[in-house]
Amino acid sequence: MLSQRPPLGWNSWNTFGSNISDALIREMADIMVEKGYLAAGYEYLVIDDCWSLRERDENGLLVPDPEKFPHGMKAVADYVHSKGLKFGMYSCAGVMTCAGYPSSYDHEFTDAKTFASWGVDFLKYDFCFFPETGDCRARYQTMSMALKASGREILFSACNWGQHEPWKWMRSVGAHMYRSTGDIMDNYISFTDIFRSQIDNLCMSANGCYNDMDMLTVGMCGKGNVGLGKVCTYEEYRLQFALWCLAGVPLMMGADLRSVPEEYRQLMQHPDLLRIDQDEESRSPFLIRRASVTTSNPNPKEGEYPWRTIPDASFTFLRHLSGGEFALAYINLSDAEARINCEFADIGLPAGSGMTLQLRDVFTGEEIGPRTDFYSPSVPGHDLKLYLCRMVPKK
Ligand code: GLA
Repeated sequence: MLSQRPPLGWNSWNTFGSNISDALIREMADIMVEKGYLAAGYEYLVIDDCWSLRERDENGLLVPDPEKFPHGMKAVADYVHSKGLKFGMYSCAGVMTCAGYPSSYDHEFTDAKTFASWGVDFLKYDFCFFPETGDCRARYQTMSMALKASGREILFSACNWGQHEPWKWMRSVGAHMYRSTGDIMDNYISFTDIFRSQIDNLCMSANGCYNDMDMLTVGMCGKGNVGLGKVCTYEEYRLQFALWCLAGVPLMMGADLRSVPEEYRQLMQHPDLLRIDQDEESRSPFLIRRASVTTSNPNPKEGEYPWRTIPDASFTFLRHLSGGEFALAYINLSDAEARINCEFADIGLPAGSGMTLQLRDVFTGEEIGPRTDFYSPSVPGHDLKLYLCRMVPKK
């Protein structure tokens, strides 16, 4: 069965855009193995848009661009498979792909067969140039049927950017994951906006079909195809990765793995974070509190107070994990350090429960507790504190 956990892998779009080739994909496959990504669970290597010629051939088939892929696509897939990885490709439900290449509208069954014949294991299916009179759900259902008829087990990664509330129906058309937002850009505002927008939808994401908050930009450091605005700091990338893991969504890396700085390789292979993302129960995080952050305003201008209030900036979540464990997250999306409170009564542990919480900081390994009644760490701006916790009876 596919997609029993959020799929993990790498996708060419964020860094390379149209600048893809046979050689690049082979190099990336090598690196995914050599640098431990495959061993950590990242198994899908996905080629995004811009891989084909601008026209179908005389038989109506998609043709890989021979300049980019001189040995054809089966050879690429064979190489990827020889490394123990799975191979992903891209098409679109509209009448052209987003970059203007032929797509699968009215060619669903033919194209699914073509992908299967090349050894494709994963299809990202985009939404550009979708006819206004078209029926979005029906078209995703058609491609889902085409993939199932193709004779090969192919993970269906539906990418309609959250149009028509896909969390309500994508699972029912057989998709294994569905993009729930517009494209991520390599900056702090983009990924925090995406996270905020999906908080209420995550409970509809679970084994078999996951909410896809888009490819990671962790470690891109402004290089590549989706760089826009201010480059993220280490803490901001760590926040992005931790939010995706807390949300329990697919982790499709987007950085150039050949040159990604070592600290980001370690981050994307962090065993506790991956364990949270991949927890077998696939539960969404429970939002305990969403609040503003109030901080001092040391040099108030005329008419300002000596404090500032930043709305919708602090979040506490508790995520139930298997085996009696919990992930407890304190997230600070303001630009100032703040103490973020969590009363244990708000997570179902009132004073009379007789239970305490033992916490372990996921990033430092520090053991905290057992704590009773509340725990309120100080969290720097644009950062989070994340703990793995267990209940312990009060002595
Ligand atoms: C859309 C998708 C992106 C990427 C591009 C390719 O914008 O949302 O993830 O696939 O198309 O053109």
